[in-house]
Amino acid sequence: MTTSEKQLELEAIASEIKAFRGLDIARAATHAVPGEGNPDAAIMFIGEAPGFNEDQQGRPFVGQAGKLLEKTLREALNMDRSEIYITNIVKFRPPENRDPFPQEIEVCAGWLDRQIAAIHPKIIVTLGRFSMAKFIPDVTISRVHGQPRFVDFQGVRYIVFPMYHPAAALRAGAVLKEFQLDFNKLKQLLSPSAPPVPEPASAAPNIMQTSLF
Ligand code: URA
Repeated sequence: MTTSEKQLELEAIASEIKAFRGLDIARAATHAVPGEGNPDAAIMFIGEAPGFNEDQQGRPFVGQAGKLLEKTLREALNMDRSEIYITNIVKFRPPENRDPFPQEIEVCAGWLDRQIAAIHPKIIVTLGRFSMAKFIPDVTISRVHGQPRFVDFQGVRYIVFPMYHPAAALRAGAVLKEFQLDFNKLKQLLSPSAPPVPEPASAAPNIMQTSLF
């Protein structure tokens, strides 16, 4: 897709999300939060669901967790949030920031899958366990965070990089440290001398060198 085709598709998805009334959380939302960023982004960040500030503004990661994400992005990667794409598993705020229900995740998955297909990023960074579980089921985040792996998704091979959610990093100093260390690993992954990323278990055993840029 060209950049303008991607842009059109992302706008079409956003319009569908904003018009949707098929979930309680959609009807209760002040604003739906489809996602935003560079349609040609090499890195796509996927969080959990909008919180209070996101619901107020209709934009992802604009509260305290977003500030930490932006700060770490700048410090570790020297990147601005306008250079990446940011969205969530669920596009409407769950009340009291409760965990999203499986049905809410399922209903929103069609839009997220289309956003991923349109952007076609090199790296998908999952923030938190709900986002991670979409690509890497049956693991715990404490075991696999900061470890990139290839994942075949919708017929495309992406590098998926699981990270802690920045809100968890704000709650515990030890998690914040891991969050920052993982961003430095992400930086290494973007460098031409990056170490190899493990292939999916089902794929051919040869290890590919991931020079991304
Ligand atoms: N937490 C998320 O998972 N997403 C947001 O957009 C904000 C906070």
